[in-house]
Amino acid sequence: MTIDFSLRTVPRPEDAGSVRQLAAATGFFSGEEILIAGELVEEALARGSAAGYHFMFAEDGCSHLIGYCCFGPVPLTRESFDLYWIAVLPQRQGCGLGRRLMQAAEAAIREKGGKQVYADTSSREQYLPTRAFYEKAGYRQAAYLPDFYAPGDGKVIYCKTL
Ligand SMILES: CC(C)(COP(=O)(O)OP(=O)(O)OC[C@H]1O[C@@H](n2cnc3c(N)ncnc32)[C@H](O)[C@@H]1OP(=O)(O)O)[C@@H](O)C(=O)NCCC(=O)NCCS
Repeated sequence: MTIDFSLRTVPRPEDAGSVRQLAAATGFFSGEEILIAGELVEEALARGSAAGYHFMFAEDGCSHLIGYCCFGPVPLTRESFDLYWIAVLPQRQGCGLGRRLMQAAEAAIREKGGKQVYADTSSREQYLPTRAFYEKAGYRQAAYLPDFYAPGDGKVIYCKTL
């Protein structure tokens, strides 16, 4: 199934709420994580690119947010970027939108001089599809930190060299 959407990079005030709704709808993030996802948009609105948070917002024909990702340079590094968030509305998952968001973010990172992209995720069973997604996108496991988030919930750090 293909999907019609448009991409936008400049955040708008309403994006903070839309991003929180989208993150909540995935069922993958805690309440605290959902709040932070919105705060990153607010920070970018307040401080512009000095905040270090960049976005790709994917909208359907009615301008509803159906997916987004957030990335930025890792402070004190020359060419490393973090992919902080990537999420697609559950009913739009599996249609290639996540891949397109990732490709657009990587192109923007390249333009900003980035060479390595890092993505952290959980080692829990629930994140098996997420890890499959990163691996399919060319990311390789660079590190595994057992019990990082909580006992039995480790951190998997993926890396891709652009
Ligand atoms: C991870 C996520 C962003 C992927 O977006 P998506 O639009 O569903 O992914 P795509 O349709 O672009 O899939 C791209 C590739 O990833 C792989 N993939 C995606 N979902 C998968 C799944 N559930 N199981 C196995 N592989 C999967 C597929 O191999 C697919 O390639 P293919 O089409 O050639 O088979 C989305 O599923 C999501 O929002 N998940 C919940 C939030 C999350 O985990 N975010 C990451 C934070 S750590």
